[in-house]
Amino acid sequence: MKPKICVVGSANIDQVSYVKRTPNDGETVFGESYQMGFGGKGANQAVMAGILGADVYIIACLGSDVYKDMTIENFKNNNVITDYIQTVEGSSGVAPIWVDESGQNRIIVIPGANNLIDSSSAIESLEKIGKPDVLVGQFEIPMNVNEQVFSHAYKNGVKTVLNPAPADKPSDTLLENTSWFIPNEIEFEEIYGDVFNENNLILFANNVETNVVVTLGEKGCAYIKNNKVEIMNTDSVKAIDTTGAGDAFVGAFSFALASKFDTEECIKLALQKATDSVTKKGTQSSYKN
Ligand code: RIB
Repeated sequence: MKPKICVVGSANIDQVSYVKRTPNDGETVFGESYQMGFGGKGANQAVMAGILGADVYIIACLGSDVYKDMTIENFKNNNVITDYIQTVEGSSGVAPIWVDESGQNRIIVIPGANNLIDSSSAIESLEKIGKPDVLVGQFEIPMNVNEQVFSHAYKNGVKTVLNPAPADKPSDTLLENTSWFIPNEIEFEEIYGDVFNENNLILFANNVETNVVVTLGEKGCAYIKNNKVEIMNTDSVKAIDTTGAGDAFVGAFSFALASKFDTEECIKLALQKATDSVTKKGTQSSYKN
């Protein structure tokens, strides 16, 4: 049986400019190239899990613009079931992105329809989907929607994965209904209120019930085992475009968790997929071989 995953979250259209260096205030620079593609943290995580072979359901909200049909089509092409997509009048989410010569990105998200996702319909969808192995969420939709969906799923025995990106402090309710909490280093620092180091990770993890994994970019990731911090390294590669690498990690991790892999195997697959994604241009387009 295929693992069953439900992702509640955002879908955006990524508008990516590749530049040697990003402009300073008041400066104009020429870019090298431009591409438009499918993005949004929720959509990216769903697509990664779909590519890996899970039955993936997405609960997201799209606008009434030209992006709606192409986004649905893209989900279908990547094994993501679109029956529970909500639509509203207005614009879908978009994300202008700058990627510089070192592969680093700067992203602005204009949420549009993502902010208008309806929590009651989301819960109804979850009931119709039936119990998934794993539910995944991020912070590009309103916090109260995540709270309600996570509480519903967690109380029904579903494992839940929360990726607190873009960084925001999760409410106590949300954290109490989270099985795996996966921030990156910067998000950890914003949420914890102090620098990321092993001691602070232990202090944070001791205060919450959830498992914690902190992704560290080219340094791999940190997680807690038997009350000690473990670091799992990743292969060293030349980064072309890091956009969506964190989502590749979360999508692959969720696939592995839903497939009942052990923690180390989940992290290993997640690191491998995230690392591979940075060697190619684009967001979801970098998830394919
Ligand atoms: O994590 C990368 C994603 O962040 C992009 O796809 C962009 O749409 C924003 O959601």
